[in-house]
Amino acid sequence: MIFDNHNRPISYLRLAVTDRCNLRCFYCMPEEGIKYLPKHQLLTYEEMERLVRVLAKLGVSKVRLTGGEPFVRNGLMEFLEQLASIDGIQEWNITTNGILTAPHIPELVRLGVGSVNLSIDTLDRERFRLITRRDELPAVRQTLDALLAHQVPVKLNAVVMEGKNIEDIPLLSELTRESPIEVRFIEEMPFNGGGSHYPVLTWTHQRILSELKSLYPDIQKIPDPANSTSYSYQIPGYKGTIGIIAAFTRSFCGSCNRIRLTAQGTLKTCLYDSGVLDVRALLRSGADDADLTAAFLKAFAHRPKNGFEAEQQRSPVTESMSTIGG
Ligand code: GTP
Ligand code: 5AD
Ligand code: SF4
Repeated sequence: MIFDNHNRPISYLRLAVTDRCNLRCFYCMPEEGIKYLPKHQLLTYEEMERLVRVLAKLGVSKVRLTGGEPFVRNGLMEFLEQLASIDGIQEWNITTNGILTAPHIPELVRLGVGSVNLSIDTLDRERFRLITRRDELPAVRQTLDALLAHQVPVKLNAVVMEGKNIEDIPLLSELTRESPIEVRFIEEMPFNGGGSHYPVLTWTHQRILSELKSLYPDIQKIPDPANSTSYSYQIPGYKGTIGIIAAFTRSFCGSCNRIRLTAQGTLKTCLYDSGVLDVRALLRSGADDADLTAAFLKAFAHRPKNGFEAEQQRSPVTESMSTIGG
């Protein structure tokens, strides 16, 4: 197990397999004019597999596939088959928008997926169209139903946005009444390709909690899983749980065990840094596994202590979450 310069173990890789997406979520991208990476700038699946093998030897045991939308990249299922067999990878999960996911669920189960995190900011078709700029809610609902039918552990992600989906806080919370899912309400981060939407974030984790408490006065705090970004709650008698993710307030950095590889092969040791190592260049210049290991260890020894320090060390964020990789 490798520890960083703040004594935090590095055990969790978030691997973006593409920067492309079939939605245009308001909080993630501009509606038009996005410049996607040309294919040769993306890591190939072979390169990703090699990097995961090297990182697994350093103590990474959990991988989450992100994007963009992972299922828009051809060959994802074949890659997952390889990933699932890498020594040391004890758990692998996917974050998806659910549009193309449903047909792959039986195969995901066969390959041993740990859980699927599904982005669903609203249960209303028109609000969904306004937030994502696409009329795709029925496909996402179908994926949710199929995940539940196959008993895949599911977390739902909803970014909370003034004027867009506040009505959905109770509607999404009610899904936990009968289903053993976790619904997470997320603070919006300024990663939409154009900088912050607001002078000050209005829907902070404290405000989300107050709203939940006013809707459900007997909502209870329950223990948080280790290294979780989410503060967990439960409404008594409900089968599922509710989480709040302070993604912008960044109150969980002290236990952060995460690193990221973007689709173009940039290493990030914090979601808020601008990239600390061009792993693709290293790979393509002929680095062997020992060179890669040395470069990773050097980066882990210089991690910022939290997302504020990481942000301070860079120019203002203008990237989209789809290029950052979730
Ligand atoms: P698991 O704990 O593996 O289930 O992952 P997760 O819930 O963190 O992953 P998911 O991809 O579903 O992300 C949910 C939200 O948490 C998204 O808005 C992420 O951007 C945010 N998030 C994930 N990791 C971090 C992090 O390291 N820092 C911050 N600030 N936000 C994060
Ligand atoms: N702020 C907070 N969460 C975001 N996501 C995407 N963009 C943002 C943002 N600007 C979430 C999506 C997805 C997860 C990977 O990140 O809802 O579920
Ligand atoms: Fe696509 Fe996810 Fe970004 Fe929405 S948040 S546009 S689903 S990558």
